[in-house]
Amino acid sequence: IERTFSIIKPDAVRRNLIGKIVAKFEEAGLRVVAMKKIHMTREQAEGFYAVHKERPFYGELVEQMSASPVVVQVLEGENAILKNREIMGATNPANAEEGTIRKEFALSVGENSVHGSDAPETAAEEIRFFFTDDEIVG
Ligand code: GTP
Ligand code: MG
Repeated sequence: IERTFSIIKPDAVRRNLIGKIVAKFEEAGLRVVAMKKIHMTREQAEGFYAVHKERPFYGELVEQMSASPVVVQVLEGENAILKNREIMGATNPANAEEGTIRKEFALSVGENSVHGSDAPETAAEEIRFFFTDDEIVG
């Protein structure tokens, strides 16, 4: 059993899509073992996306992620990291497959409704960034 970290991004929370997105995770067999709604500070968004610091879209990404509330979650299941990436779909919604969250809900590559960890190391790091052990209930 594996755990991954997920964010329902501001564009989706603003459009009242939390439930529809969580339903996609649950339908695919992932369980929510931690969840909270937060408004990221600019510093938190900068820290979370530090790996993208040199990318041209970094400023816009930090701006968007701290503009309004998000829902951060820990998802658990068989191959949770890969499964979550499949449910999310391609980063650019124009390339996302039918039935994926980004195909159905994303507005653009910047406002693409969800984040999901891409590997076991980043999943562990990202979970630790937002959650303490006692907030995760398996
Ligand atoms: P995450 O799950 O959010 O990490 O998505 P990803 O792994 O599919 O994408 P990546 O890690 O490469 O980029 C992180 C985030 O930066 C993406 O989810 C996008 O929101 C944003 N991003 C990536 N490329 C671009 C771009 O060309 N323009 C803009 N505006 N944003 C981008
Ligand atoms: Mg990524």
